[in-house]
Amino acid sequence: MEVIAARLPKNASAIVDFVVDRTPKQDRAILRSELNQETARSLRAYFVHQHAGTLAGVSFARTASNLPEGAAFVMVSTRADLGGRGLGSGLIAKILADLESHVNRLVTCVLADDQESLGVARHWGFQDVQLSVTTSVVLTGTAAPDPTKGVTFEACDDLAFDDDEAVDAMLLATQTNPEFDLGLILRLVSLRKTPAPGQRPVAVLTRVERRPAAISFAIADGDQMHVVYTGVDPGLRGRGLGLLTKQVLHSRARELGIRIALTDNDESNTGIRRVNDQLGYTRHSSWYWMMRPRP
Ligand SMILES: CC(C)(COP(=O)(O)OP(=O)(O)OC[C@H]1O[C@@H](n2cnc3c(N)ncnc32)[C@H](O)[C@@H]1OP(=O)(O)O)[C@@H](O)C(=O)NCCC(=O)NCCS
Repeated sequence: MEVIAARLPKNASAIVDFVVDRTPKQDRAILRSELNQETARSLRAYFVHQHAGTLAGVSFARTASNLPEGAAFVMVSTRADLGGRGLGSGLIAKILADLESHVNRLVTCVLADDQESLGVARHWGFQDVQLSVTTSVVLTGTAAPDPTKGVTFEACDDLAFDDDEAVDAMLLATQTNPEFDLGLILRLVSLRKTPAPGQRPVAVLTRVERRPAAISFAIADGDQMHVVYTGVDPGLRGRGLGLLTKQVLHSRARELGIRIALTDNDESNTGIRRVNDQLGYTRHSSWYWMMRPRP
C-alpha cells in the first residue's frame, strides 16, 4: 500500500474524521486547528489507502511558531482493524523522509489508555514528557459572575486591544505552566491565528483598575469549544481572577450556543485544575506528550 501526499486544506476534513473515528477521545477542534496552514510554518499530510480505495491510515507533520524551536508535531493514525500490518511504519517513514532540515526533534501525543499505540510510539523512540489531563463540562446555566469593584471583563474574540503590548506582556508573564518550560509559548499574534476556517475564537480579558490582569482564550467548533489557555498575572493571583475570567468565558460561550467546553492541563498544574474542578469540569481523557530526537 503506497503512502501518498494529502492535499490541504482540501483533505483536512477527511483527516479529522479519520482520526476521530480511530480515537474518539481526540478533540476535533484542536485537530482541525493543527491542520490549519495559516498557523503552520510547514504542514505535510499523508494518506494510505486499501486496494479498494478505502482510507486505511493518515499522518501529518507540522512545525509552527508556537511549538518549541526545531520541533515538529507528528501524528500517525491507522484503522484499528488494520493494525500491525506496517501501515503506521510506512506513514512515519514518509514523514521522516520529507522533514525539513531545521527539524531536530519530533513531538507527539498519545491517549494514555491506548496501550498498543503507546507501545508503538515507544518502539519508534518517543519518550514520555508530560501527562496532560483533558477535562470537560456541559455549559448549562452558566451565569456571569457578580461585578467586583475595580474588576472589569471584556469580550475580546479578535484579541485586538488599544494596549496590545501590555496585554501581550501580561499573557507572557502568566505562563508559569509546565508547557512553557518545554517551549510551548503563547503570544497574541499566534493565538489570533489559531482558529481554522469554520472555527471561531471566544476570548475574555479581565482588567484590574484598567490594567490587563487575566485572559482566557478558546476555539469553538460547532457547539463545542476547547479552552486553549487561561492565565492570571502572577502579581494578581489568589483573588479568584482565574475562576471569574473562566465564568465570563463560559457565560459568553453559552450565549453563542456552545454547549460543551474541553480543556487540557498538565497533571501537576494544581492551580488551574482546582479552578476547573470548581467550574464542574470532570475527567474526559489523559494524554502522554512524547518526544524523540530526529532520527
Ligand atoms: C500507533 C498506530 C499508528 C500504529 O499503527 P499500525 O498500522 O498498527 O503500525 P505498524 O503495523 O506499522 O507498526 C508500527 C511499528 O510498531 C511495532 N509494534 C506494533 N505493535 C506494537 C506494540 N504493541 N508494542 C511495541 N511495538 C509495536 C511494529 O512492529 C512496527 O515496528 P517497525 O516500525 O519497526 O516496523 C495505530 O495504533 C494508531 O492509529 N493509534 C492511534 C493514534 C496514535 O496514538 N498514534 C501514535 C502517535 S503518532
